[in-house]
Amino acid sequence: MYRFGAILLLVGSIGTIPLKPEFLHPDAGLDIIELVQKYGYPIESHQVQTEDGYLLTLHRIPRGLNNTLETTRPPVLLMHGLLSSSVDWVNMGPGTALGLLLADNGYDVWLGNQRGSTWSRKHQTLDPDTDAEKFFNFSFHEIGYFDIPAKIDYILDTTGQEKIFYVGHSQGTTVFFVMASERPEYNAKIRLMSALAPIAYMGHLPNPLIFQVAEHYDVINTLVEILHIHEFLPHYDFITELGETFCSNSSDYRDACYWILNIIAGFDSEVDPDFIPVITSNAPAGSCIKQFLHYFQEIKSSNFSQYDYGEDENDAHYGQKTPPLYDTSKITAPVSLHYASNDWLAALEDVERLKNELPNLVNAKLVPFDHFNHLDFLWARHVVPYLNNDVIEEIKSN
Ligand SMILES: *[C@@H]1O[C@H](CO)[C@@H](O)[C@H](O)[C@H]1NC(C)=O
Ligand SMILES: *[C@@H]1O[C@H](CO)[C@@H](O)[C@H](O)[C@H]1NC(C)=O
Ligand SMILES: *[C@@H]1O[C@H](CO)[C@@H](O)[C@H](O)[C@H]1NC(C)=O
Ligand SMILES: *[C@@H]1O[C@H](CO)[C@@H](O)[C@H](O)[C@H]1NC(C)=O
Repeated sequence: MYRFGAILLLVGSIGTIPLKPEFLHPDAGLDIIELVQKYGYPIESHQVQTEDGYLLTLHRIPRGLNNTLETTRPPVLLMHGLLSSSVDWVNMGPGTALGLLLADNGYDVWLGNQRGSTWSRKHQTLDPDTDAEKFFNFSFHEIGYFDIPAKIDYILDTTGQEKIFYVGHSQGTTVFFVMASERPEYNAKIRLMSALAPIAYMGHLPNPLIFQVAEHYDVINTLVEILHIHEFLPHYDFITELGETFCSNSSDYRDACYWILNIIAGFDSEVDPDFIPVITSNAPAGSCIKQFLHYFQEIKSSNFSQYDYGEDENDAHYGQKTPPLYDTSKITAPVSLHYASNDWLAALEDVERLKNELPNLVNAKLVPFDHFNHLDFLWARHVVPYLNNDVIEEIKSN
């Protein structure tokens, strides 16, 4: 019940505030199915089972607004970041959102949802609520090792293609690098991997707040164990309502909402404040505490390695005292990196290190705008000229 305390407090306080804002973005409150249908695109839901029993939803936009299904459409898998979900590739709408632009450019668009998040909170035998300790026992390692290969194989089976394009944002890049180094046979199934805000090494994390939190890793790890926290920040309807009430244009708290996004991603004004209620309609979409702990370990160790269970348990798990490093030299798929100088979660130094290690780097591009931050990769007002045009261009030319 621990996590509900603060939440109940917040819900309680809503009662004292006028509920309906004067201006609310027309897309606020809609989920991915409703949004994509509203924009006039077809959308399908597919269920994929992983080797370890998780049941994942892949959303598919099989074609764009004005094209028919007849021609062969190369599949693209887009994989979201931590606490995000499939909707974040489409909620900027037609003409802007990468998911929709790719569909309009002739691609068969598949949108992943990580295990444990809104659309993938299912397992063959485990119940996410009553078996939370077992169900929410994964980090980006398992997402990369099990989820991504299962999705790729499903897409290839369904479409009869031999390779896919892959686009990842943030954790969506980490999980790719895990897969490509731990299951190197999957490299041959990738035509091109476009990494937006790439995260492998984190030793230079620019975000001061998260850096401080990671410094206290041991305390946090102990707290998490004592309090039995497994699932973290799933989406509840009242989060949608909080977003609509506090973050809408007419709210006195609007600046605070904006500040919360910026303190995570880097300070910037490229996200339209009116758009925040659309974001909070589906995000946060759920995760597991171990994902955070694994990233905190990376910040402290500067290594890109498997989960650190502590010396004794590492011995049992891995037969060595420190967790095995991911071997980046095995990532032989063609990779293109897109990174930004104001990204508080992906430091230039850390991207540089990855860049120097990747054996098949085809492109590395700094977004040509100094203030571009971690969330601007999805939601900047000018995301098309700063980023999406480049991504579509590189996909077309491969
Ligand atoms: C689709 O066709 C309509 C009518 O010709 C046009 O106005 C619109 O811009 C097209 N949309 C896309 C995404 O190509
Ligand atoms: C969690 O996963 C680890 C690694 O696979 C395993 O050793 C551990 O027993 C699991 N814990 C639970 C509660 O399932
Ligand atoms: C939001 O508020 C700003 C400042 O008050 C105003 O200029 C803008 O037009 C508002 N947007 C909408 C959509 O009402
Ligand atoms: C980083 O990896 C190296 C090589 O495995 C290891 O020797 C070192 O202890 C690791 N650092 C930390 C802080 O775990």
